[in-house]
Amino acid sequence: MNAHTKLEGAADAPFYLPQGDECEIFATAARNDLPLLLKGPTGCGKTRFVAHMAATLGRSLHTVACHDDLSAADLIGRYLLKGGETIWVDGPLTRAVREGAICYLDEVVEARKDVTVVLHPLTDDRRILPIDRTGEELEAAPGFMLVASYNPGYQNILKTLKPSTRQRFLSLEFDFPAQEHEIAVVARESGLDEAQVKPLVRLANKLRDLKGQDLEEGVSTRLVIYAATLIRQGMPVNRAILAAMIEPLTDDADVKRGLLDLVTAIFG
Ligand SMILES: Nc1ncnc2c1ncn2[C@@H]1O[C@H](COP(=O)(O)OP(=O)(O)OP(=O)(O)O)[C@@H](O)[C@H]1O
Ligand SMILES: [Mg+2]
Repeated sequence: MNAHTKLEGAADAPFYLPQGDECEIFATAARNDLPLLLKGPTGCGKTRFVAHMAATLGRSLHTVACHDDLSAADLIGRYLLKGGETIWVDGPLTRAVREGAICYLDEVVEARKDVTVVLHPLTDDRRILPIDRTGEELEAAPGFMLVASYNPGYQNILKTLKPSTRQRFLSLEFDFPAQEHEIAVVARESGLDEAQVKPLVRLANKLRDLKGQDLEEGVSTRLVIYAATLIRQGMPVNRAILAAMIEPLTDDADVKRGLLDLVTAIFG
């Protein structure tokens, strides 16, 4: 890939407003065949960032949502019966390895240890994927990149990556965008004007201050966009906030009352 294709790809890349130097780090990692791990709370922009960077770099993207039932075969591939014939079907990881694409493993800590071990020979300088079932040993095509993400917040202690896995990745920490950035992002995504978005973002930051006390997680940028979208559609502000920024956070009536007090403090 040359600089020219890079620019072409950027024109229709999904919108992403950088918070710092994360785009440079991603691009440099991609150029140098280094895998990348993104850590950060739910709804802060990790998935959007990867989609944006893949498009900007002109590489296709294969995303896998990891969970504890995910097997190595789900990633690598399996033999399937098709019209009386047994044929090999590549999994998303194998496709990305063959094509030189980006493979994005979302919530990678949910995957079982035997799955993460599959990643090891791919994420050191060997860059190979052994496929036991077919006896193949695939060398990753130029352009192949492994990106993984997880939310360190709500994982219990058992759900962390082994040091031998995490120390194969460059890591970037994500957080909710700074206030001015978040206002711009929410306005752009929802179509609501910035003056109306501003108090929603102020409320979001107040709610985030409660993380660890009354709330397990702070309100995500995603939910602020939901609230703004409802308001843009003509819904009364208080109703939109309740549905998009309060109810999704808690089921506890006392906590909810406390959160509503914050709403009144900001919106009257
Ligand atoms: N910096 C940003 N630029 C553009 N959009 C953003 C940015 N940050 C967040 N968003 C918006 O927030 C929404 C949620 O972000 P995204 O889905 O990427 O979160 P996530 O970190 O992947 O969350 P999860 O861990 O729950 O998967 C996106 O759809 C996008 O609209
Ligand atoms: Mg995501």
